[in-house]
Amino acid sequence: MTKFAFKIRDVEFKNRIFTASGTFGYGVEIPQLIDVNKLGALITKSITLNPRAGNPPNRIIETPSGLLNSIGLANIGVREFLDKILPQLSNLNTVIIVNIAGNSDEEYGKLIEMLNNEPVIKAFELNLSCPNVKEGGLSLGTNLKSVSEITRIARKLTQKPIIVKLTPNVTKISDFAIAAESEGADAVSLINTLVGMAIDVKTRKPKLSTITGGLSGPAIRPIALAKVFETVRAVKIPVIGIGGILSLNDALEFFLAGAKAVQIGTANFINPHSSVDIITELEKFCDDNCIKDFEEFIGSIDLSGNLAINN
Ligand code: SIN
Repeated sequence: MTKFAFKIRDVEFKNRIFTASGTFGYGVEIPQLIDVNKLGALITKSITLNPRAGNPPNRIIETPSGLLNSIGLANIGVREFLDKILPQLSNLNTVIIVNIAGNSDEEYGKLIEMLNNEPVIKAFELNLSCPNVKEGGLSLGTNLKSVSEITRIARKLTQKPIIVKLTPNVTKISDFAIAAESEGADAVSLINTLVGMAIDVKTRKPKLSTITGGLSGPAIRPIALAKVFETVRAVKIPVIGIGGILSLNDALEFFLAGAKAVQIGTANFINPHSSVDIITELEKFCDDNCIKDFEEFIGSIDLSGNLAINN
């Protein structure tokens, strides 16, 4: 293993920079743009049991330092994903994580049953945090019992790593991480987007068709960092940091807070090379700072002299 490699369950990741679900298509559109094989992992957009057209436009709005989206889990559905996309992903030399989203516990179970025997799929990310759907999404992800139940069902059905993607739209995100860990999750990823809203003052209309959407991008990074810091102290399983990471420096903040890996999301829309650039810059950073074992850097935030108020 190189100094950046690490394992979740028995799956080895060559480095700790992943691309976030929903910001990288199905993973097959991008190889023309960047060398996907350099990534620690590629996470597909959310796959649901049935195809979904998603929400009507407008479903993406730029805000100061952020992006509000209300895509509504638009995707081709698991059958077409298996038939058309998966064979193309088999040519890639990176870990393929499939993000799945359901309306109910049963749907998560069915999705895993349909996907589990595919050797190309190395791990699952359970999307329990989409703020843009009437059923599923936040109604499940903000309910501790549902998070426990879905993780339990998933754990029974697969030996592959299960990563539970958590919403920040709760009082205490670490309680949800503990619930996932207790039911056998191998890692948690956080944060998904924060519920937000924008209004066109001239027309007096909400800018998004669904009125509210999910805010991502640098605007949410300090919140994400605080949630990661909190969660790292609450669970033993790896915490994967997500939230407005644009640069190496941003990623380093999450590693110092204790994230074992990070996902690059909204940055992909600004610069599709961001994830690969961060990988290259991280290697140089470690060389320049004589960091031989990156695991030692993780969580090495210096809290001496600080006062812990909320943690
Ligand atoms: C969406 O499809 O609306 C966004 C997905 C998510 O936030 O999980």
